[in-house]
Amino acid sequence: MTANIPPLLVVDDEKNMRLSLAAVMEGEGYEYRAADSAEDALKLLEQEQFFMVITDARLGGMSGYEFLGHVRTRWPNLPILMITAYATPKLAVEAIKAGAIDYLAKPFAPEELLHAVSRCAERYRLLMENAALRARAGEAYRIEQLIGESDKVRELKDFIRTVAPTHATVLILGESGTGKELVAGALHSLSQRSEKNYVRINCAAIPENLLESELFGHEKGAFTGALRQKHGRVEEADGGTIFLDEIGDMSRSLQAKLLRFLEDGTFTRVGGNQELRVNVRLIAATNRDVIEAIRQNQFREDLFHRLNVVQFLPPPLRERGNDIILLAEHFLKHFDRACNKHIKSISKIAQQQLLQHHWPGNVRELRNVIERAVILEKSDEIQAASLPEFHLESRLRKVAIPTHLACDRSLDESLTNFERDLITSILNLNHFSLNKTAEHLKLSRHALRYRMQRLNIGSDTTMDEDAGQQDGKDMG
Ligand SMILES: Nc1ncnc2c1ncn2[C@@H]1O[C@H](COP(=O)(O)OP(=O)(O)OP(=O)(O)O)[C@@H](O)[C@H]1O
Ligand SMILES: [Mg+2]
Repeated sequence: MTANIPPLLVVDDEKNMRLSLAAVMEGEGYEYRAADSAEDALKLLEQEQFFMVITDARLGGMSGYEFLGHVRTRWPNLPILMITAYATPKLAVEAIKAGAIDYLAKPFAPEELLHAVSRCAERYRLLMENAALRARAGEAYRIEQLIGESDKVRELKDFIRTVAPTHATVLILGESGTGKELVAGALHSLSQRSEKNYVRINCAAIPENLLESELFGHEKGAFTGALRQKHGRVEEADGGTIFLDEIGDMSRSLQAKLLRFLEDGTFTRVGGNQELRVNVRLIAATNRDVIEAIRQNQFREDLFHRLNVVQFLPPPLRERGNDIILLAEHFLKHFDRACNKHIKSISKIAQQQLLQHHWPGNVRELRNVIERAVILEKSDEIQAASLPEFHLESRLRKVAIPTHLACDRSLDESLTNFERDLITSILNLNHFSLNKTAEHLKLSRHALRYRMQRLNIGSDTTMDEDAGQQDGKDMG
């Protein structure tokens, strides 16, 4: 009955009282610690976890009421039972007002005490269970947490509000760090399912062979290590929402099972043959190029169409204009508080740099950049020097440009050279057939001829037979 709960703490300056309380607790199997003063009790509370405190109202040194006040502020959820000398309504009211969960008047029967303690133990268990459930189910993001006022983000939020109350399956695509998880959470929070569980599974984080049992559960003995039956997370999400993150990483065989689940809500646990059914809304996300994955046979096209009932595409950060600054200021506040600094703003030059950067890692990258800047910054304003050297990183992204095209030429000149080189090599490839070359470059023959003239190509090349005939048509 008392397994898995931490000890309780008894505070009393009378030794006899401590001993008799201890005897009662021990008899019931509660673990306990005793302190003879409030001061000692506070020290113990710092060192160890307790599920409740029993204290006498009158203590040498700090009084029981004062002690109660300290505990209330420092450990607001810790229940305290106060023992008062006589049962006067005034004292009882005082004890409760000061934050005691209950009080007992001396003398009291051991049963009365045990009754109060067991209620606290029960409360402790419930609290723990709820916390565990919440941690498992995960709190979903709310739409207010999605920061941004640019047109694209306003449109995104409007779309979330429109789609959230429906039962539509949703697919969220887009670059890494654009806020796909945030969109998924906001969809759940704004739906009629918001009171039910929001279950998030990261398909890339769970080993392939375990993902199926995580999703759909397993029967006892389904595989080595399956010591007992396990419910699937889809069951946990019944009535609510399941968010399958990084769905692009799911194996093809599991994709087939997911497809069936999406068709009619049915599934079977691994190693089981009973068909089960739940009512779950599915939201999936991936930063992979799904179309490419379909082409490469890694992602089932039928599943894609089934998921893609409504598609969200949170825009890349570089397309959100001044939202970059709004987000930067938001993260600044957050990290400033967390790091206990007093940085108020971002300098104009630093803002310029933030606005010019390409943000390949999107909002996540911005968050990291601001976190780092807050750590480095010594003044009360983020200076450009506390930002990373963005130009180094943008050089990484640049396509390698053949040197003979790039060196010291104007853009127009470089482009002209590039165009001439490209057309010449495609002509070569197609043995100087204008038809084939035009087709290859997706141009009309006429347009190709025009460009060749402009670029001085072909005056000394002998074109194939088709050239003349076709030219006549084009010109005619
Ligand atoms: N509009 C926004 N407002 C506030 N915070 C945001 C916004 N967009 C993203 N974030 C934050 O940026 C981080 C990355 O967002 P999120 O995890 O949702 O990205 P993602 O699209 O799922 O990326 P990945 O594809 O890499 O998983 C998170 O800390 C998230 O809270
Ligand atoms: Mg994500």
